[in-house]
Amino acid sequence: MVTRDDAHELDAADELAAWRDAFLINDPALVYLDGNSLGRAPRRVVDRLKTVISEEWGTDLIRSWSHWLDKPQRVGDLLAPLIGAGSGEVVVHDSTTVNLYQLVHGAAALRPDRLVLAVDENDFPSDRYVVDGIAAATGRTVRHGFERLDDVAVVVRSVVDYRTAEVVDVVAETARAHGAGALVVWDLSHAAGVLAIDLHAAGAQLAVGCTYKFLNGGPGSPAFTYVAHELQGRISQPIWGWFSQVDQFAMGPDYVPRTDIGRMLIGTPSILALTGAEVGIEITAEAGIERIAAKASALTAFGIELCDGFGLSTCTPREANRRGGHVSIVHPKARSLCGQLIERGVIPDFREPDIVRLGMSPLTTRFVDVYDGIATIASLTEITDRL
Ligand SMILES: Cc1ncc(COP(=O)(O)O)c(C=O)c1O
Repeated sequence: MVTRDDAHELDAADELAAWRDAFLINDPALVYLDGNSLGRAPRRVVDRLKTVISEEWGTDLIRSWSHWLDKPQRVGDLLAPLIGAGSGEVVVHDSTTVNLYQLVHGAAALRPDRLVLAVDENDFPSDRYVVDGIAAATGRTVRHGFERLDDVAVVVRSVVDYRTAEVVDVVAETARAHGAGALVVWDLSHAAGVLAIDLHAAGAQLAVGCTYKFLNGGPGSPAFTYVAHELQGRISQPIWGWFSQVDQFAMGPDYVPRTDIGRMLIGTPSILALTGAEVGIEITAEAGIERIAAKASALTAFGIELCDGFGLSTCTPREANRRGGHVSIVHPKARSLCGQLIERGVIPDFREPDIVRLGMSPLTTRFVDVYDGIATIASLTEITDRL
């Protein structure tokens, strides 16, 4: 059975340990295991926002649009290498839900002869609702599951299951869908910033994802859209706004969309929120996605070992290459357990119907946090199970 001393040893040997100091840790006693819902605040973001507010906004005012206008593309280029995309293929804007709507709508229009959209019935609500909404609006039907794809226009899939952390084989599943003539929109929300995703190597053409989770961009920081170069001139944008217009300031009568990734933009970006995303992405790039992914694997392996040692049941895959950056404990009283954990200074997430989800964010989560969090769960379940 692994011990708290083992956790300290792993922390002492951890080459990413010093990155924790790059984040605000205002309550050192707090065991924060929810960085996969909202990442911690990088210290650097405070100064960067001060500059943007006092200099770029306060002093330069409207003149700052000279470099703010293409900031969604510049931040996208920063993110691109972290997900295996190329320069000019990623743009950071709006929310994951909105971006998903754009891509699914645009992808469906590229397969006008096919009337089926496929999604997992257990995927994140927005993913399912967006698919349902587009199907209802465009006269298509929704199929739950991906067994049969030969009549499917668009497959919508999360790379990492938001409940169990199970990872889909992106290479194999993209090839299978493309082979059947379907397009795939990947949701990287629980993968970006924690797994070394390689969209190019997988042949993936369309993807979205959040920046406020493992990328530490801040509450409500904008999402990202990836469109491979080969689809950029062809995919249609369902929300016609002036930021995707070829000659934005001509204010002309007709909408003529750009042919580059700027085609996915809608309206004025939130520069403050985008600055948060920029800093979070920058820090992730500096720390190195391969090293981050390796630590995520070690943290989650340690978490699973602890679950086994304490007799807790987990639904997270044991094979390292089949799991993302969290460990989920299954317990019939998961909801009340989460409430009790929060009272004791351990922050997990509850997910219906019976999951205590523990996010392990490699730049800020220590092995000792994983130990303390799971040991607290074990002591609480001992009491609960006796009731
Ligand atoms: C897998 C997944 N997709 C989509 C979303 C929705 O993101 P947003 O609320 O930013 O639109 C989330 C949010 O947590 C998510 O986890």
